Amino acid sequence: MDTDRDIRTTPRGFHCNLCNVNLANQSSLDEHVKGRKHRTLSGVRTTRKAQEEHSLFVSGFNRGTAQTDLVDYFQKFGDIAEVIMDKDKGVYAIIQFSEKDSIQAALSQVEHQMKGLKLRVKPREKKEFKKVQKKKPDFKNLQELLEKLKPMLCETDSVNAQMQCVVERFQLGENEKKARGLLIQLLHEVFTEFFPDSQILPFGSSVNTFGIHSCDLDLFLDLENTKTFQARAKSTTQQAADGCSDDVRSEDSILSDIDLTTASPAEVLELAAAILRKCVPGVQKVQVVVSARLPLVKFHHRELDLQVDITINNRLAVRNTHFLQLCSGLEPRLQPLVYTIRYWARQKQLAGNPCGAGPLLNNYALTLLVIFFLQNAEPPVLPTVENLKQLACEEEECVIEGWNCTFPSLSISVPPTKNTQDLCSLLAAFFSYYATFDFASSVISVREGRALPVTSLLCHAEKNEEEAMEASKPFSQAPKLGPLNILDPFELSHNVAGNLTDRSQHSFQKECQEAEKYCRSLQYQRKSSKGKSWGLVRLFTPHSEGPRHGAQERPPEKELSIVLPFKPGVLPKALRSQLSLAGDGFRLLWFQGACDAVAKVFQNILKCGPASPPKSLAVEDGDTDDSADTSAELNMSAEHTDDDDGISSSGGAIPQGKARGGAKRPLTSESSDTSLSPREKKPRLGSGPKPGAPCWRWSQSHAVWAGRRKVRRELVKDTDTRPEGSNMELEMQVTQHIVDKEPVLQDPLEFKVQARLVGATQSTRVILKVRPISDNKLFFQDFFHFLEVFLPKMVDTLMEKGVKNA
Ligand code: UTP
Repeated sequence: MDTDRDIRTTPRGFHCNLCNVNLANQSSLDEHVKGRKHRTLSGVRTTRKAQEEHSLFVSGFNRGTAQTDLVDYFQKFGDIAEVIMDKDKGVYAIIQFSEKDSIQAALSQVEHQMKGLKLRVKPREKKEFKKVQKKKPDFKNLQELLEKLKPMLCETDSVNAQMQCVVERFQLGENEKKARGLLIQLLHEVFTEFFPDSQILPFGSSVNTFGIHSCDLDLFLDLENTKTFQARAKSTTQQAADGCSDDVRSEDSILSDIDLTTASPAEVLELAAAILRKCVPGVQKVQVVVSARLPLVKFHHRELDLQVDITINNRLAVRNTHFLQLCSGLEPRLQPLVYTIRYWARQKQLAGNPCGAGPLLNNYALTLLVIFFLQNAEPPVLPTVENLKQLACEEEECVIEGWNCTFPSLSISVPPTKNTQDLCSLLAAFFSYYATFDFASSVISVREGRALPVTSLLCHAEKNEEEAMEASKPFSQAPKLGPLNILDPFELSHNVAGNLTDRSQHSFQKECQEAEKYCRSLQYQRKSSKGKSWGLVRLFTPHSEGPRHGAQERPPEKELSIVLPFKPGVLPKALRSQLSLAGDGFRLLWFQGACDAVAKVFQNILKCGPASPPKSLAVEDGDTDDSADTSAELNMSAEHTDDDDGISSSGGAIPQGKARGGAKRPLTSESSDTSLSPREKKPRLGSGPKPGAPCWRWSQSHAVWAGRRKVRRELVKDTDTRPEGSNMELEMQVTQHIVDKEPVLQDPLEFKVQARLVGATQSTRVILKVRPISDNKLFFQDFFHFLEVFLPKMVDTLMEKGVKNA
């Protein structure tokens, strides 16, 4: 089987050659093989193989030979499924037959002649199927690009001037804009032939004032008027049949084959793709992508070397493009800021998904992050979308798909900002703002110009769903919550950063923290008199080992920690409701749930027992928690975090700071009356949220981390294909099996786990510090590496079920 050939074992698990991914264990492999990606690629490969086996390669005919001539000639050997002409030069063609036998029939003929010319006919070359690799910008590329930019930047006198330089160097030129305009005109002419009264409208970077050389061209094929046309044409069929109506056009057009009001997007796009292939010169690599959030047809224009995406249900994107244009018109500092931040994000591999989909920020999301920051500057540089709505006049009112998209069409209608900060300080402030932003528990609302607590959205989602169920109507979906939540300014149910992973969000924040630090240095602010790199150059320097990854923080050797990110989207309904009612206290409530789950993993699933009590009551290694016997009991030892984590001991949320010129926000200035000193002790957690940092001391006498995969496979006999950590009962049995069958460790492994809640001025998460407290250091390393992967997965599983029910 092909699948067997696709998979090879590696020292770290398995590798799928077809999809080019590594899989850690058998269950991940099973999941992968059953998954969409693998099945799609296998399907494409099978189709390609079948096409190859049914096709002939033909050359030797005249340039400009029509497809129909080839069909006429070759159909004597069998039914022809498709003829693909070489579009560039028209000197060869692929003839695809419906039956394999036709190939033999054609090949067995000694000579082929067509229109007096001798044809060369041979079997189609069999190519090994290879997945098109995503073009990831590598370090060398990024560095080379920067080298070209460097002299220009280093010569300028200020960061402000450098930022203007970036705009000049990258922005779309007038000729590029003209060429795009001509292509749009051509597409309009062709499409209106087939879709009468249709419109084709550009949106995105080509027209939103943030376009760079060779950025793709996003188009919206608006078929609303065509639908009206078609409906009218239908109602006058009789007249059309009599030949006395203009609307007869639809009869001979492609429109007679499709009903636009009932056709699926895929059907309409297939039609658009056929039109592009057959009627638009220079078009190549036409592809319909139905799996995207908004299905589209994409193609490459050869002469312009331009990637074009056409969508058919995207009126909102045209409107949000006008919004970005308005913002640029309102605020001249926006353009240099966006260009600079986009370039920085690209160099750090934080934004720009190479093939459209991917876990990085898209440019639209990044632009909204800049706008949001400017709305929160003091005084604000840009107004909120709600403010803009108030400033619009009646004629400017606009509602699309039920979403209010009203704003003034001219920037003159909006009062100017009082903010006079220069570009250099605004850029530094941007990094500072997001370096300490609690992404996990906030929703960025450009509409309101403030960060909404994520819990307020949980509440809305539940309410909307219930109301919709009562009224038996479809409910407006709540946005997909993730590690970074940016609401579209108009389509309020869309999180434009919903594709981000914990890793990419973490990388973004880490890079902001590093950039913030750099912006405080003299090298950022002052031109080097010795010709060294300064200002933006250092900010744009890529990392030699690629992007900074790792949802897990890599702590110094002594401090091994495991991170549990706040993922409200996967919590059970009951807990989501409780969190939404808890107001600012939601973090502590979640923290309590997460701690309950952690305790359950150690106690019930990994069957750890209490560690021996500490020898003395003296504080170990400067810790604050060891004086209490916390063995297997969730006792509370209060601790102030040593980081600027912004959590007051009461767990109250500290509002996201106002964006200031590079100034650091105060630490936990809003600690309430319930603040605890580091040494105070609190009783164990009750039912309600209480402050503190729980610490457990556990002991384990068996190597419960070793050989789990094998035991799991034996226990389920391959009938349970759920991945490791997704089935609590099974994991308990695996541990029990190891405890029963494997010898006891010579020295039990004793260790301490201390939980700390972080949030408000960083992404909300729990950090578990894990330390050995016995001499069994060798085993501890193995155990810790196992926990790093197992514990977060298991906690997610328990939290999803509701810890109490698990
Ligand atoms: P892009 O993220 O591609 O931005 O979204 P861009 O500015 O065109 O940058 P390039 O193409 O990467 O250079 C293109 C447009 O699609 C719409 C917006 O109008 C955006 O400008 N869009 C994108 C949305 O409406 N929602 C989204 O979630 C993403």
